[in-house]
Amino acid sequence: MAFLFTILSGLLLLAVPIDAQVYMGEERSSYAFTWVQPLNTTILGQYGHSEPVYPSPRTTGSGEWAEAYEKARNFVTELTLAEKSDMVTGAPGPCVGNIYAIPRLNFSGLCLQDGPVSLRVADYVSVFPSGVTVAASWDKAVMYERNLAMGREFRAKGAHVALAPSVGPMGRCVYSGRNWEGFSPDPYLSGVAMELGIKGLQDAGVQAVAKHLIANEQEIQRNPLYYSNGTVQFEAISSNVDDRTLHELYLWPFANAVHAGVSSVMCSYQRLNGSYACQNSKLLNGLLKDELGFQGYVVSDWYALHAGVDAAEAGMDMDMPGTSRYNRTVVPELGRMSSFFGGNITTGVRNGSLEETRLDDMVTRIMTPYFYLHQDEAYPMVDASSIFLNTFYNQSSWLRDWNITQDTSVRDVRENHAQIIRRHAAESTVLLKNNNALPLNAPRYIGIFGNDAGEGQNGPLNRFGSPDSLEYGTYAVGGGSGAARLTDLVTPQEAIKARASQDGTVVESWLNNPLIAESDVASLWSYQGPDVCLVFLKSWAREVIDRETLQLDWNGTQVVKSVASACNNTIVITHSAGVNVLPFADHPNVTAILLAHYPGQESGNSITDVLYGAVNPSGRLPYTIAYDEADYNAPIVTDIQTTGVDDWQSWFDERLEIDYRYFDAHNIPVRYEFGYGLSYTTFAMFDIMLESTQQLGSISRFPVEEPVAPGGNPELWQTLYNVRVDVTNTGRVRGSAVPQLYLSFPDSTPLGTPPRQLRGFEKVELAPGERRTVAFALIRRDISYWDVVSQEWAIPSGEFVVSAGFSSRDLVVSTNMTPIASTSV
Ligand code: NOJ
Repeated sequence: MAFLFTILSGLLLLAVPIDAQVYMGEERSSYAFTWVQPLNTTILGQYGHSEPVYPSPRTTGSGEWAEAYEKARNFVTELTLAEKSDMVTGAPGPCVGNIYAIPRLNFSGLCLQDGPVSLRVADYVSVFPSGVTVAASWDKAVMYERNLAMGREFRAKGAHVALAPSVGPMGRCVYSGRNWEGFSPDPYLSGVAMELGIKGLQDAGVQAVAKHLIANEQEIQRNPLYYSNGTVQFEAISSNVDDRTLHELYLWPFANAVHAGVSSVMCSYQRLNGSYACQNSKLLNGLLKDELGFQGYVVSDWYALHAGVDAAEAGMDMDMPGTSRYNRTVVPELGRMSSFFGGNITTGVRNGSLEETRLDDMVTRIMTPYFYLHQDEAYPMVDASSIFLNTFYNQSSWLRDWNITQDTSVRDVRENHAQIIRRHAAESTVLLKNNNALPLNAPRYIGIFGNDAGEGQNGPLNRFGSPDSLEYGTYAVGGGSGAARLTDLVTPQEAIKARASQDGTVVESWLNNPLIAESDVASLWSYQGPDVCLVFLKSWAREVIDRETLQLDWNGTQVVKSVASACNNTIVITHSAGVNVLPFADHPNVTAILLAHYPGQESGNSITDVLYGAVNPSGRLPYTIAYDEADYNAPIVTDIQTTGVDDWQSWFDERLEIDYRYFDAHNIPVRYEFGYGLSYTTFAMFDIMLESTQQLGSISRFPVEEPVAPGGNPELWQTLYNVRVDVTNTGRVRGSAVPQLYLSFPDSTPLGTPPRQLRGFEKVELAPGERRTVAFALIRRDISYWDVVSQEWAIPSGEFVVSAGFSSRDLVVSTNMTPIASTSV
């Protein structure tokens, strides 16, 4: 009945103002306005509105989760209705998200903690390289090992769930404030990083959460804006994405996440095609649970829920933090704002508007990963050092319940992770230019320049960082919920000084301002000036706001110009959230450029290892560096000059053309292309070989229909071709090459297909003169496009070009492949 009502309300109210859609007192329907962009819908699928998809698919515990699923089902049968409602609703407690314990059933509750680089705010934890840094490693081992180590720390601090990894935003727009938390605007690279990162966390016994589903590609207006009386002034921005783009770009890495067995998926703040992501039945029921076969639970982003029964029917499983920022009803016994879930779920089941089987499914989904990861067996207690993370409730309301004492705190869980972090960040460093300036060889006098080289002067940069607190100090991590507390931070300045002293090198340092103010920079240094000038520059980004510029902060470009005017060996190193335009790149006195992104706590040691050649840099760009800011497409929506409640709309009209796909489609020259990076050695590539794993002519256009498993139709993950290339080290030192595989789809593929797309990469370490064969597997999904008419992944007929090389614009060898002959369509 409830289900029927929900469908009808969805269908009938497509064009009805949101205020009119009130039922069950506090809930608003997920169906706001219909916005339909006139488009060639046979190619893209319509977008701008979200179709209703019901009922919510029930979990079946398929695959490896079967045993845990049985335990979860048994657990659910022991629960009262009120307990079930508690299980799906955040509660007061010591973590950023908490689920109440049920001691009667030996269930000690769930502790959910941020974030993607560290257990945020906790002390005695390590701070790992950020997502964009890890993506720049192009190293599968790094992607796994980082999260395995991080997972061990979460577990040892008593966190059951790590709110990581992030792949939304993916990087559609270079300005988005959170791109650095995720990996790359390339879905393939991001997908691999997601899959391995999730395995790393879960192999450590911690639940991973793939976030934020989906198209959370800007921070501005990510949430609705309310008047003080609680009515909506502006709904959150709606990311309007066509069906094909959604599948081939934004959903792609989430499919990897589900394929990897991710425990949970966090739905995002903003709307997708007009409907809030956390109550969008097409997204949660249709794409995630039905098409991708997701067996775990959907957790809301914090306060992202704007409905109760509607959201549950649309596929939402857990409301966090369990209060509503804007629902002003205080629940007397809790002394807090009520949740759209909680007691409302109990009421909904009692009055028949929510089927109890849906509630049972929600709890089963929550408990299956818990049992699968053996979290019911002797899990460590929650460490109290992170209790300040939970700002959603007054501490007095929960401190006693959770039995938090000093004894449970101050657990040092860092193990040997500093060494791993140092190595990972060094291997992720991208060398963009090197006129024989690096590696350093016992210089006589090093000048260190820039505010990014040393310690902060105004307290930690660990959260939202007001601009003033950011002027001095190196950036090891960005801000917001992905930030971290640096128990240890090795700055570039201290690490370089320590290393330089081994050679008796003089080291002197300057901050930005004197360099900008002084017209004769040479007058600032002693004797005849440094033989190496290391300029450290930075670029800040954080959750909640988007970046305003791609220039380096604190007059970075001017600092480089000043130093380079007097120093003919100027080496620029950046610590940044992602893309910066580098207008000084061609300056003849700028002899080297290194990008270290946000490297985590060992920042100084990692960069020193690279500068001195202890580590040969092998990072590659996970995005494109254009010549000019104006060259980038897909701008953020920054301002709405109207008063319409529903006017914040972001049309993803560039469709599949983001980052290199866009620059390549329009032949736009770029300064440094996607996949680019140098080494202290050189490499060559030979002999591409392709072989099919299938008999000639046996590959079908569509996958054979099979029962859905996590990740979707298992056929999509089947290897159809193997490609091999030979790579050799042609230089004089050991180093790692990153051979990359790109596909150009046949002409029969619908319009809008990018000229080439990454479909494989490996990192391979080679001694001088060594030659090795590198293999890439092409699965069915890799050689398919999303066909909006059949709603299937389809292999186009005709000839693909399969190319391998060292970047997206340095393709060295190529061959052809014709899975389906043109005539056999
Ligand atoms: C909001 C952020 O978007 C999300 O990533 C984070 O996990 C939660 N807040 C909890 O802090």
